[in-house]
Amino acid sequence: MKVLVIGGGGREHAIIRKLKESKKIAALFCAPGNGGIAKDATCVNIGACDIDGMVAFAQKNAIDFAVVAPDDPLCLGMVDALEAVGVRCFGPNKAAAIIEGSKVFSKNLMKKYGIPTAAYEVFDDPAQALAYIKEQNTYPAVVKADGLALGKGVVIAQNEEEAAQALHSIMEDKIFGTSGNKVVVEEFLTGPEVSVLCFTDGYTIAPMVSSMDHKRVGDGDTGPNTGGMGTIAPNPYYTPEIAKQCMDTIFLPTVQAMKEEGRPFKGCLYFGLMLTPKGPKVIEYNCRFGDPETQVVLPLLKTDLFEIFQAVRDERLARIDVQWQDGCAACVVMASGGYPKKYATGLPISGLDETGQAPGVTVFHAGTKLDGDNILTSGGRVLGVTATAPTLDEALEKAYAGVESIHFDNCHYRKDIGRK
Ligand code: AMP
Ligand code: GLY
Repeated sequence: MKVLVIGGGGREHAIIRKLKESKKIAALFCAPGNGGIAKDATCVNIGACDIDGMVAFAQKNAIDFAVVAPDDPLCLGMVDALEAVGVRCFGPNKAAAIIEGSKVFSKNLMKKYGIPTAAYEVFDDPAQALAYIKEQNTYPAVVKADGLALGKGVVIAQNEEEAAQALHSIMEDKIFGTSGNKVVVEEFLTGPEVSVLCFTDGYTIAPMVSSMDHKRVGDGDTGPNTGGMGTIAPNPYYTPEIAKQCMDTIFLPTVQAMKEEGRPFKGCLYFGLMLTPKGPKVIEYNCRFGDPETQVVLPLLKTDLFEIFQAVRDERLARIDVQWQDGCAACVVMASGGYPKKYATGLPISGLDETGQAPGVTVFHAGTKLDGDNILTSGGRVLGVTATAPTLDEALEKAYAGVESIHFDNCHYRKDIGRK
């Protein structure tokens, strides 16, 4: 089969590495891909959101199956467009991707179906939102832009002034465009965070190994939020008892709710959970694999990923036994100096071997490009250095040894991944 993966970050590299293990795939393409993916698949220079370009490429090259990985093309209807011309896809259609594309939708869904989440109100007027926050007078107050915002649409306001500023920039300055037409103002929750990615075909749900992201840029969870600076799997806080509770009160009810809404969800449904003193609650849904969660989850998968993708597409996931390895995985993200704010690109990376690896570890490329034989930085998050081992300590030690063997100017990474 000819398979196309859409996207070009560390997550897509991890998906492609796993798909390469499948015997059923004769040719693997990635659009647009990156400098590391180019060593594992044929990269095609089409933007991940270019629906017309993607459809034309898929038809011309007789692509059998596509994996749509990032949120933007999913929310724009990439799956609908490809399926319409006979390309089978892994990923939700536009109607189901709204579970990530609109926080107002997802919060209302949870309220309607009794799925535990933070208490909230929705506003389309900044003055009313601020009046509500003042009246509540409990800080921090959480302000969320309704639509997609590159993972930056959440503000934890410590006081009235910060809340006013957040509402102003989201709803009036429109820093996230129309994503800020509405906001959700919600209760601040506390507790350890857990990411659980699940395969679902709209009927059956198969949770993957749990993981923990590290969203803040600095050690000790300081500084601004990023797309994710590192991950570990499994998440040590996610006990079998909590997993059972999440299955019964969150995962199954969500799949059922989407079906009842006439928006059956097929693909990877990502649950961002907080284990609060009152039990697990949903912080957010994503309609896709997490990045860099995928980089620690998929290396622990034993079952053929492509078989799972096809079973999800064909609504026969119940007949697949999805199996996971014992052991742990750790991923440390090496980022460009300045990220998540301004940073330079085009810097040469040394310490990678000819397959783009460091000895003994897997290096997933996120923001790199090929320049002849050289690999240059091309994004904020550059590499995800990943290791698996029987214990978390060993996995971390191997991953950090990998990091130390790689160099580019002004590189920065967190030194405390998995230490909480
Ligand atoms: P999100 O972009 O929705 O993943 O939110 C980014 C981060 O903000 C989450 O990972 C949490 O750490 C934090 N966050 C979001 N909502 C809440 C909340 N209601 N209470 C506390 N922290 C939150
Ligand atoms: N790492 C968080 C996300 O993918 O949204």
